[in-house]
Amino acid sequence: MSRQLRAGMVGMGMIFEETYRPFFEQARVKGLFDRRFGEVDVQLAAVASRTGSRAEAYRKAAGDRIFPFESFVGDNSGADLVQSDVNFCCVATPDDRHFESAQATLAAGKHLIVEKPSVLKLQELDALVELAEQKGLLAKVVYHKLLDPDHKRMRTFYQDDVLQHVNSGYCSLLEPKQISGAQFAQWITGRNPGTYVACHYIKLIDFSFGGKLKTVTATGQRGIVGPQDGNTWDSTQLRMVYEYDDGREAAFDIHTSWVTPDNFPGYVEQEVQFRFDNGLWNGHSRKRGVECTVEDKTPFSIKNSLNNHYNAPCLEPWGERAERGYGVEVIERFVREVAYVEFGGDESGRADRLSEMRRLNYNDLSADRQTVATVQALEAILERAAAGQPDCVVRVNGVDGGLVLYSPGSTEHEVLYAPEV
Ligand SMILES: NC(=O)c1ccc[n+]([C@@H]2O[C@H](COP(=O)([O-])OP(=O)(O)OC[C@H]3O[C@@H](n4cnc5c(N)ncnc54)[C@H](O)[C@@H]3O)[C@@H](O)[C@H]2O)c1
Repeated sequence: MSRQLRAGMVGMGMIFEETYRPFFEQARVKGLFDRRFGEVDVQLAAVASRTGSRAEAYRKAAGDRIFPFESFVGDNSGADLVQSDVNFCCVATPDDRHFESAQATLAAGKHLIVEKPSVLKLQELDALVELAEQKGLLAKVVYHKLLDPDHKRMRTFYQDDVLQHVNSGYCSLLEPKQISGAQFAQWITGRNPGTYVACHYIKLIDFSFGGKLKTVTATGQRGIVGPQDGNTWDSTQLRMVYEYDDGREAAFDIHTSWVTPDNFPGYVEQEVQFRFDNGLWNGHSRKRGVECTVEDKTPFSIKNSLNNHYNAPCLEPWGERAERGYGVEVIERFVREVAYVEFGGDESGRADRLSEMRRLNYNDLSADRQTVATVQALEAILERAAAGQPDCVVRVNGVDGGLVLYSPGSTEHEVLYAPEV
């Protein structure tokens, strides 16, 4: 095979294990094929992490299932990795550390895919989009819930006018205590579960229904993960108001937590309800239909209600072991987009192929503006609340600027982002 894509992976945590690892292991065996770009060999060539311990444990466990990758270690390992011989980088560090590695990736001339939320501020998003443009690269973000077959079906109904005009919605995503207490204990100080997981639903709403974001409000609770007057949050409730072309509005509430008891039966508890002019859509992760109990295993190492759509390991009827699902599919999609840009025709057509892939607004950073705006607003509102000023409101594209925070009882405001969102 003459065509090869070498990948870099910054961050070797939970999401690497669940989605990137299965993709790279499968790609090592099968490569990628498409009539438009032919056969492409994909290798995980280099990884970067803070301590290197998970990278070494994985190298040992995987053996020949993975390419013999180089491992960079330390707080600057991402910047070192992007200088190595790779064509694209996947950034999966904690959410407040995406920007540095993402910027270094693009500056080094490598295509980028970054975990959700892409970045925490519109200013950072602008910088990445500009850099990708200058360098002729793809800059994409992973919101794998857009590929969940249930969400795809709902969006299809909406696009086809079967479900008409969304009026309101409620989404919740509840993570177990082991996430905040063990998995993320290293970096959780000063963070909140809304930025980390509400962003899935912010994007689902933004992508599925379109419209213009108008207002963001938020509340939250403290006292379990950190002190009750501190800036580390147990749970958050976010509200977004959107306006549509016909002038009508919709409001969406998104509740998140990472302090749900560890023995609750769901993989993570996920629920969506959307109400339309002519219908309702109710989805619940634990009601997809499967319940399983195994002595001494459920609900810890195996969940009682399995999400077999995300990354389920299974034995195929033809004897092969596979890990498949939308979590893995979304990574493969991105690599196919890179392969198409680089190998989908001759050099004279590369710019056209690049703009074609950039117009895919399910994952392009240029289409992540309203999602990042909501995350930026949420972070600012929580920061004010922790500083003793609860109940702030952020308004979008109003008289004072693109993203502006107002505090109750005060005539002053803070401009979070001056240009139009
Ligand atoms: N798509 C999803 O549903 C989903 C699910 C889980 C996590 N995520 C996202 O993936 C990202 C990582 O989450 P996780 O659950 O894998 O976290 P994690 O804590 O399990 O792993 C974080 C990894 O980043 C590395 N790291 C931290 N700082 C670094 C630095 N400065 N340079 C290089 N490496 C560094 C750590 O060594 C570790 O390997 C987050 O942005 C999170 O929002 C997405």
